[in-house]
Parts: sequence; C-alpha cells; structure tokens
Amino acid sequence: MISLVIDTDTGSDDAIALLMAAAHPQATIAAVTTVAGNVGLAQATQNAGRTLEVAGQTEIAFFVGCDRPLVRSLETAIDVHGSDGLGDTHQPVTTMVASSEHAAAALVRLASESPGEHTLVALGPLTNIAVALAIDPDLLTRFRSTVIMGGAPDMVGNTSDMAEFNIWVDPEAAARVFAAPGHRVMVGWNVATSAALVTPEQRQAMGELGTAAGVFARDVTAVVESFCHEQLGLPVFALPDPIAIAIALDPKIATRVETRGIRVGLSNDARGATFPTWVTDDLPVTDIVYEADAEAFAAQMMQALATLD
Ligand code: BDR
Ligand code: CA
Repeated sequence: MISLVIDTDTGSDDAIALLMAAAHPQATIAAVTTVAGNVGLAQATQNAGRTLEVAGQTEIAFFVGCDRPLVRSLETAIDVHGSDGLGDTHQPVTTMVASSEHAAAALVRLASESPGEHTLVALGPLTNIAVALAIDPDLLTRFRSTVIMGGAPDMVGNTSDMAEFNIWVDPEAAARVFAAPGHRVMVGWNVATSAALVTPEQRQAMGELGTAAGVFARDVTAVVESFCHEQLGLPVFALPDPIAIAIALDPKIATRVETRGIRVGLSNDARGATFPTWVTDDLPVTDIVYEADAEAFAAQMMQALATLD
C-alpha cells in the first residue's frame, strides 16, 4: 500500500487529485493538510473537507495550516478556479472538523512517528512544508518521497513569464523545500500542459459516468474551462494536481525524468522561477519530470471518478 499525506490549497484540480487518491485501490490517505493558495485558508479547508465527503472518506486526519506565504501577501487564483475555488458550485458547508494541531506540526509528527512510510504530496504553495522544515530540517528524509506539483523547468510559466503559480505564490518557502535533504519529485506546469489536458468532450464524459465523483469533477472544472477558452483562447484546460497525484500513485506514469538541483528565483522578474542546474555542490537534487504518459493518466483519473459514488 502507498500511504499519502496530501497538502492542498484546494481548488478545482486539487479536488480531483484528492478524489483520485481516495479511490486508488493501493493507496490510503494518512492525512490531509490545508494551506492558502488558490483560495484563502478557510475556503481551502472547506473545499478539502467537502471533497473528502464526496469521496466518502470523512475519517481522514485533517489539519489546517498557514493562511499566508512566509513573507509575501497572499495572491489567490479565484479568476481561474471560481470565487469558491470549486467552479462557483458553492458546495454545502463541510461537516468535517479539522484537528486543533497545526498542519506544520502534524507533518513533523506524522513523519517522525513512521519514518519512510508516507509519501508527501504537495499540491499548493509550499508554506506549510517550509514551516515544518523550520521545526525539523530533515523532515523530507522521513518521508518516502515528496512529490511536488509546482514549477516550470522549461521556463514557461502560468503566473509570470517564467513562474508557475504554486512556486510564485511563496518562492521563499519553495527555495527552502528544494534545498532540503530528502527524495523529491517535481511535477511542473510543463507536465500538466503536455500530459494532462482535458477537452470539453472529456470533461462532459466525467459527468456522464453518472457517479457522485464524476459529476462533481465535471462541475468544479466549469470555471477553469471557461477561463482557458475565454481568456487564453485555448480549446482545453490542464489538470496539474491530478497528474502529480497520478505520478505519486504510479511512478511509471513519469516517462522522462532528469535529476538536477532546482534553484528558485526570489527577486523581481525571476520571482518563482525554477532553474534546473547541474551545479549542485550545496544543493540536493530533485527528480524533474519532463514527460508523462497522458493515456495512463487519463485512465487512472477516469477509473477513480467511475469508482466513487
Ligand atoms: C497549480 O496552481 C493551482 O492553481 C493549481 O491548483 C495547481 O496546484 C498550477 O499552477
Ligand atoms: Ca493546487
């Protein structure tokens, strides 16, 4: 079994990633932690709780984390995901109650209680993980691996010219996470746009599965589909967090990986850029995904959405 700890700023694609983790026959979710990003912290927590209800997994350990980046103001992505982060579906208020333990403290505790057991999957800005690293600098060595949805190793960003959203929102946190010892996999915007694109027909097919998860996935992605069509002129939209969770669940979905250091830009136009480098004297390396199996990803996602009812 794969045991996952999932850190999420739950927008529409995070929600689908949570459903995929919940549905996977060889995975358990040990904990979900929330962080501000796509939406504010309270909304991210509501969305994560609501998604776990749709998945029928209300017993999962649930922790609330940081409500803003380490040093910068929070900038959300409600223009992309909807005012509620879930496609303006305005879901019922979740009945899930989070623990009183802070997410960063929970990450440290979970990792130290069971070294090498959990895979940490980061689907939002890396604030909670950076705070946890301040408590335990070797934190990532206590996870089996840390799979990060974030970055743009090809320098084609979605938030600035070079930067992807999760890294751009809290680059100081990201710099700490990419500099920490431990095994890390980076699934960037390059992978989302090459292997996790969804056409209008594919989105409708989610709903036609007729399951609670399929209908939910179709509905929460309405705003991101419109945003891509109307603002960017694109006939498709991307699912970055689902391809990251798919790779965490089945590493073979990553078909080309290169191992390099990642330096994070902190200033001016370089804010949030992720620079792959051979110069790793003082820097641990990261497995950077460059190519992934789009068909295997789509199959895993549709199987998950068909399963949860
Ligand atoms: C990332 O930013 C968010 O909008 C998505 O949820 C994903 O984690 C993509 O850049
Ligand atoms: Ca996310």
